[in-house]
Amino acid sequence: MKVSIIGGGGRVGSNAAFALQCAGIVRQIALVDANHDLASGEALDLMHGASLAGDQKIYASDIKAAADSDVICITAGLRRKPEESRLDLINRNVSLYKGILDQLKSAGVQKDCIFVVVSNPVDILTRLNIEYLGWPAKQVMGLGTVLDSTRFRSLIAYEKNLPPTQVSALILGEHGDTMTPIWSSATAAGVAIGKLLTPVQQAEVFKKTQTSGAQVIKMKGGAGYAVGISIAEVIHAIALDRKRLLPVSSQMSGQMGMKKVCLSLPAVVGRGGVEGVMEPELWPKEVSGIQASARALEETWAGIK
Ligand code: 2OP
Repeated sequence: MKVSIIGGGGRVGSNAAFALQCAGIVRQIALVDANHDLASGEALDLMHGASLAGDQKIYASDIKAAADSDVICITAGLRRKPEESRLDLINRNVSLYKGILDQLKSAGVQKDCIFVVVSNPVDILTRLNIEYLGWPAKQVMGLGTVLDSTRFRSLIAYEKNLPPTQVSALILGEHGDTMTPIWSSATAAGVAIGKLLTPVQQAEVFKKTQTSGAQVIKMKGGAGYAVGISIAEVIHAIALDRKRLLPVSSQMSGQMGMKKVCLSLPAVVGRGGVEGVMEPELWPKEVSGIQASARALEETWAGIK
């Protein structure tokens, strides 16, 4: 399988490439970036590790060469300033993102290509990728709250000194300020988290999750490792046709009464892309949280220039 990372010279894209290389599942990783020298440097550094990491082909390429990719992951975009919300990024990134889609369209992307959108605001750009490019909704998914859920599980674990890999917990809705914690189904090896964390601890853990992105930007300029392995989790579900249930951002088609908006509900992710979207049993406040995400995203979508 060939994966092209558009924005591969940047921190997010190169960390995703490293996570893919270490897993050894995909066979070709092409790094595409407006700064071709940077993409070439990242590819060279990755290739230096190939004799230990695996026999993938890893190289820098231009966007035309991305046309024959099985998966195109788009991480390119301007990063938000710590005080900015992701939605503030919208107009700065919409024109940049449209430019990338125009180049891919003229390069002739193969028709069964799956898009994994990471650039922010990811839910808006996921919908743009579907509606502006005219790509089948099933073949476009955004990283959505996969990263938030990854952080949420890790932060719950650290709060109670639990093994992070045994914590199962979801953040749903918008990858942004209105993201919603799903405590109703959060467990640690089957034990309800509500039995392990007090309401105050739960509120603290969620606050840390919600502000993780801004905090990492403030401390080190932006996310890298956690977003990189979250991207790899999604791409591996596609590559191995794993039918994994992941909270990727996908276009709603009536779930919870929502249509057209893109946001995160548990989706079945396989080689065909988004192969199904589930409507989990939720507490009323969780339902209203997700509906608030939908309203915020619809408002922003309506305001796009
Ligand atoms: C984050 O939350 C990059 O939006 C991503 O760090």
